[in-house]
Amino acid sequence: MVGVTIPFGKPLIGAEETDAVWEVLQSPILVHGPRATQFEEAFAEYTVAPHAVSVSSCTAGMHLIYFALGIGHGDEVIVPAQTHVATAHAVELTGAKAVFVDVEPESGNIDIAQIEAAINSKTRAIAVVHYLGVPVDVPRVAAIAERHGLFLLEDCALAPGAHLDGTHVGLHGDAGVFSFYPVKHLTTAEGGMIILKDGDLARRLRQLKAFGVTRSHGERQIPGMYDVLDLGFNYRMSEIHAAIGVEQLRKLPHFLEVRRENHERLDAGLTHVSGIRIIAQPVNNRFRSSHYCLGMVLEPEISDRRADIVRALGDKGIGTSIYYPHPVPRLAYYQGKYGYDSTEFPHATAISDRIIALSVGPHLSTTDMDYVATSVQEVWKEANV
Ligand SMILES: Cc1ncc(COP(=O)(O)O)c(C=O)c1O
Repeated sequence: MVGVTIPFGKPLIGAEETDAVWEVLQSPILVHGPRATQFEEAFAEYTVAPHAVSVSSCTAGMHLIYFALGIGHGDEVIVPAQTHVATAHAVELTGAKAVFVDVEPESGNIDIAQIEAAINSKTRAIAVVHYLGVPVDVPRVAAIAERHGLFLLEDCALAPGAHLDGTHVGLHGDAGVFSFYPVKHLTTAEGGMIILKDGDLARRLRQLKAFGVTRSHGERQIPGMYDVLDLGFNYRMSEIHAAIGVEQLRKLPHFLEVRRENHERLDAGLTHVSGIRIIAQPVNNRFRSSHYCLGMVLEPEISDRRADIVRALGDKGIGTSIYYPHPVPRLAYYQGKYGYDSTEFPHATAISDRIIALSVGPHLSTTDMDYVATSVQEVWKEANV
């Protein structure tokens, strides 16, 4: 076994980020300062969003939105069965129920044709997830949401840089929420950003992410004087995290270009490998992916070999991952609480049980992609797949 030479994820932090953090640490302002504002403005400009609100994580951002909307006990929110648990947890944290809808087998995105059947008088919102960075056809979901008076949240954790019909994801629905966790397209270590068009909601989110205070730090006329109108959280992003984000965002176009090239190269290198299909590919040029990773799904006849294949790739120094290890309704918390039968979500289940996620991150080159493709072919030969 060689050490992992091709890690699945590796944050690319350079001197720019280190210098920016150092500068913050030399200043008297570690929270409530100019860096968070600068990051918000830069993110709004990059995505062409009317408003951007920084938060401490994507999970915090989604929870904050539902909380601000007054979603709670007795309410339901529709979420895809194939996603990170955070998409559903953000709903459950409010006391509302996450109601799962299966995904399409090819894109891994929520099966829009099944959404309407899950709507009832308790439904308050729909959450879609741009799985592996390929946009959901959000306008189709928005038409359903509008018909039923529902809020439409886009979980954009894997999708900075992804566009649909020339518009950045997060702006076709009512709000989009991004994650800056270390393996994501850009990182702040922990962090998130909400983008949205509604200025009133943006103001409310700013208030609620900071304890519900009436005035932000910069707006106070007498230092220390504020009132609290509402319950609220501490979901702010610190100046240190924001300073990293500003520098990472400058590099994002380059990161995305490397991801695109790597994905194309690896996809081409796997063309003749039997028993696999590559999922989450844009179906036409309306959809521009952010190429989070390459999703290689094993056909059923070899799916029980996944652990061996992952181990064999590991022996060749190739790190892999699984997105996501279970359909959310099969996770113990949801299984225990609602007793879901996972045969209700066959496509989400098939993806979880058969996918191997291969990295196309900007820490890797097209030469690395050739090595991964050759290694997959070798593993197939050695394992007689
Ligand atoms: C689709 C999706 N949503 C939400 C999250 C949670 O993001 P965060 O860690 O920033 O809360 C993740 C994390 O990987 C994710 O993949």
